[in-house]
Amino acid sequence: MAVERTLSIIKPDATARNITGKINTFFEDAGLKIVAQRRVRLTREQAEGFYAVHKERAFFDELCEYMCSGPAVVQVLEGESAIAKNREIMGATNPANADEGTIRKALGQNVQENSVHGSDSPENAAIEISYFFSTCEVVG
Ligand code: CMP
Repeated sequence: MAVERTLSIIKPDATARNITGKINTFFEDAGLKIVAQRRVRLTREQAEGFYAVHKERAFFDELCEYMCSGPAVVQVLEGESAIAKNREIMGATNPANADEGTIRKALGQNVQENSVHGSDSPENAAIEISYFFSTCEVVG
């Protein structure tokens, strides 16, 4: 196993319900360390750039609108196999299909307002971390 870093976003549905601390507890209880964190209000352009990979999907416009609808918290999580571990902690994209004990099962509202985002591969983690943070802002 290797120590990795992954990009996490606590989404607007979660900031609206004031549960960012509750979500961070899931990460910390699982042994992931928050090594960078910033509360942001994404612009439409930032949201479209971040989710560019989903540009052709039917939900793209709605997704970008939602991601700009309120504050989000962008974070870097660090730990052993952090990318896979974070995806395990988050649970399935659709909270209806997420396992018990996961963030999305406990706190997600629907397939779009699913409370958290996490990078899905080492390549995307590197791209997504650098989208929001410079090297000196990540302090392990
Ligand atoms: P995330 O893990 O951030 O990756 C892409 C996001 O698109 C996803 O979480 C959801 O917020 C959203 N999403 C995925 N599938 C759908 C869908 N079928 N309808 C609406 N939004 C979706």
